[in-house]
Amino acid sequence: MKLQESLWLLVTLLCVTCIHATILPQIPSLTNFKEAKHATGFQLSSKTEIVVDAKFANVKADKHSPSLLDYAHTFSSDLSEIAGLKSIRVRTDSSKNQRKFGNAIYLTVLPQTLAKKYKYHNGNATDEAYELDINQDIIKISGSSAIGTFWGTRSVLQQVAIHQKQHSSHVTIPAGSGVDVPGWEVRGFMLDAGRHWFDVEFLSDLCVYASFWKINEFHVHAVDNLWNPAYLYGPNAEWQKLYAGFRFQAEPGSPLEGLSRPKNETWSKKDFQWLQSKCLSYGVTVVPEIESPGHALAITQWKPELMIQGTPDNMNITQPEMIPTIKSIWKEFLPWFYGSEVSIGADEYDASLANDYIDFVNTMADYIHQQSGKSIRVWGTNEPSKTKKISTKVTIQHWDFPSDDIPVNLMKEGYNVINSEQSFLYLDGKSSGETSFPQELNQDIMWTGAPGGNGWAPNIFDAKDSSNNTAVDEPRLRGSIMPLWNDWGNNATTKLEVYYSFARSLATLGLKTWSGSGSSALTRSEFDSLYPLLNQVAPGQNLNRVVASKGKTVVSYDFKKTKHGQVTDKSGNHYEASAKNVKFSDSGATFEGSSKSYITTPIGSMGPPYTLSFTVNPTSLSGVLFSGTDSVLLANDLTWNVTGQLYSLNYSMPLHKATKVEIHATREVTYAYINQEKTPRYWYTVLDIWGDYMQTANMSFAAPIQKIGAGFKGIISNVQLSQGA
Ligand SMILES: *[C@@H]1O[C@H](CO)[C@@H](O)[C@H](O)[C@H]1NC(C)=O
Ligand SMILES: *[C@@H]1O[C@H](CO)[C@@H](O)[C@H](O)[C@H]1NC(C)=O
Ligand SMILES: *[C@@H]1O[C@H](CO)[C@@H](O)[C@H](O)[C@H]1NC(C)=O
Ligand SMILES: *[C@@H]1O[C@H](CO)[C@@H](O)[C@H](O)[C@H]1NC(C)=O
Ligand SMILES: *[C@@H]1O[C@H](CO)[C@@H](O)[C@H](O)[C@H]1NC(C)=O
Ligand SMILES: *[C@@H]1O[C@H](CO)[C@@H](O)[C@H](O)[C@H]1NC(C)=O
Ligand SMILES: *[C@@H]1O[C@H](CO)[C@@H](O)[C@H](O)[C@H]1NC(C)=O
Ligand SMILES: *[C@@H]1O[C@H](CO)[C@@H](O)[C@H](O)[C@H]1NC(C)=O
Repeated sequence: MKLQESLWLLVTLLCVTCIHATILPQIPSLTNFKEAKHATGFQLSSKTEIVVDAKFANVKADKHSPSLLDYAHTFSSDLSEIAGLKSIRVRTDSSKNQRKFGNAIYLTVLPQTLAKKYKYHNGNATDEAYELDINQDIIKISGSSAIGTFWGTRSVLQQVAIHQKQHSSHVTIPAGSGVDVPGWEVRGFMLDAGRHWFDVEFLSDLCVYASFWKINEFHVHAVDNLWNPAYLYGPNAEWQKLYAGFRFQAEPGSPLEGLSRPKNETWSKKDFQWLQSKCLSYGVTVVPEIESPGHALAITQWKPELMIQGTPDNMNITQPEMIPTIKSIWKEFLPWFYGSEVSIGADEYDASLANDYIDFVNTMADYIHQQSGKSIRVWGTNEPSKTKKISTKVTIQHWDFPSDDIPVNLMKEGYNVINSEQSFLYLDGKSSGETSFPQELNQDIMWTGAPGGNGWAPNIFDAKDSSNNTAVDEPRLRGSIMPLWNDWGNNATTKLEVYYSFARSLATLGLKTWSGSGSSALTRSEFDSLYPLLNQVAPGQNLNRVVASKGKTVVSYDFKKTKHGQVTDKSGNHYEASAKNVKFSDSGATFEGSSKSYITTPIGSMGPPYTLSFTVNPTSLSGVLFSGTDSVLLANDLTWNVTGQLYSLNYSMPLHKATKVEIHATREVTYAYINQEKTPRYWYTVLDIWGDYMQTANMSFAAPIQKIGAGFKGIISNVQLSQGA
């Protein structure tokens, strides 16, 4: 018997009647839960099984949705990760007699007649609610459909993590029962992937992470361009050179092949479908956006004849080939998409062309519905017309007063509305001073920024004027999406910096869109004390890039001795390195300068805060000092290379001379002390702010520790990587 198992057994024997626990606050909070006083709670152990009601095990909401059994497998792997248990068995059972199950987490679905009573605040039925019943033997989660049951598993995971933290050796979840019902149907986040490239592995990690907070939508803004008036509207036709991304990679031979650019920054159908499945397996639906007729430089760079002369980022809707072109784009890509809705963008178009705009939106709504059965969303846009009106089948995503219509008026006119109001919800990858959007949700605004000093919730559009806000139970209000824009392009942020912006923001958004800001929701201080623990344990991804170590030191390689190519680590951890074509001597490891001369470690990358120090004596400045799965450090000017974006240090390394480098990184900055200088040198990026001025900004890089050397010629010694900056 393993030590942990014997501990479980001991605790069970000693403590048959003494196990009480209180349901602890979690993010988002449960709608209600009543503890069964004096009853024994449920003890999680290595014997715990996940039992899936056979009647619902293989039922799917639609062909791409996971079944209850699929969700159960996801839950099993997440639970073993959080609880530190080896593997938790999943089985189906058709028995009605749940007493037979022993120590089990039982997943089922409510009968339709009972499920129907659970509603969002807007009065529509929800399939995302669940009932939670806990006794000594069983945790029973009964969803209003399989997705509801899945959200219930997130609550159990959080309770396990929180109770484990308090009692460390065993986990007891209190007996009692409750229900949990989301306030709003749309609980989403948006990422601007048009102006900044992201790989699908990263995007799927974001879905998995967001799902821990019961967020159910990932809006992927997949087409956009940098905005620089000098390039776009200047006399030299430089709009062809301005960065614009169209991320869906048309099949080879398709007439749209030329549209998918930059080619090395596109997703194939297989990539994108993998992303959608992965997100769905965690309850998150991807809502793709292909933007036009504004923000459409990626399309007009391909077909310049479709632009409005003088404003190349805007397409001319009445140009006879414009609508057929946009239809052909959707025709090609609609079959890729799994969700029931897509966004056609359609914001910031010339208000004097309102009738054209309205015709365009309605034509696309009909076309997309005919082709795929899907509905569309547009961004709120001020397009005043006396004769025409956008169809009320189109959902409006409000983002700005007064450049789009006032949301309460839109709802009165019969439109369903999603709240993405910028003054609460917009984030930007690096900011351009005080007037721009923050990198994280402003917590003061989220907790006290609504009228009367109340907390924000999806029904709040205006911080001051309550007449612009709706009741919580407004029938036309669908929910909220928090967007993160990448106005300054690829080199402004690394993907991990984008995650740092999202980390606490998504937890806050999950709370506010599920539980609202009413009396049953968490207090700010409860949230602040819970978030760090829950962020650390959030399963299924490692966006924090945590590397475990016994003490502060993660690896310590002096490179003075080697045995059979193995480099022994002196830190007490087991991160032994192995060497190829490297010589070891009293001065350290000598690399030959070829790509075949390097040392590898078992670690891919380590997130900040960290300190990485080493001594380097180069005989040439080419090649790589350190590389990892998230970043590369080149010898030349100690330049970081992150997916092709280069960031050099203001330091030229001398040849044939030892330089001692000590790098410190936090989530905000990366800097180095060279030869124990007193002043740190920072790595910066330079942001081009609307072509107006250039602004430097700090960068945070993950530690590259997978490979040392490769193309580098010279000596490296005394490599130390430790936790903390
Ligand atoms: C759009 O194209 C049509 C047809 O070519 C043309 O008559 C019209 O002037 C153009 N509109 C704008 C705003 O350039
Ligand atoms: C709502 O917001 C708009 C735009 O900021 C403002 O003009 C208006 O006074 C506000 N109140 C009402 C009742 O529309
Ligand atoms: C509520 O459900 C009805 C029927 O499915 C639908 O037509 C309506 O748009 C929904 N309302 C919202 C705000 O989603
Ligand atoms: C930077 O990395 C990219 C791969 O991400 C590579 O194609 C490029 O050559 C590298 N640049 C330099 C200067 O090493
Ligand atoms: C794609 O290629 C361009 C041009 O060579 C390069 O600047 C960019 O870094 C590459 N992107 C990635 C993700 O490697
Ligand atoms: C670069 O570092 C030198 C000192 O080595 C300093 O004098 C100079 O101002 C720095 N330049 C920038 C752009 O920071
Ligand atoms: C980042 O890209 C901008 C163009 O968008 C460029 O002006 C700037 O020099 C780049 N910064 C770095 C550090 O390469
Ligand atoms: C970078 O961060 C350091 C430390 O916080 C700060 O002193 C410096 O002003 C920052 N530089 C820029 C360009 O923001």
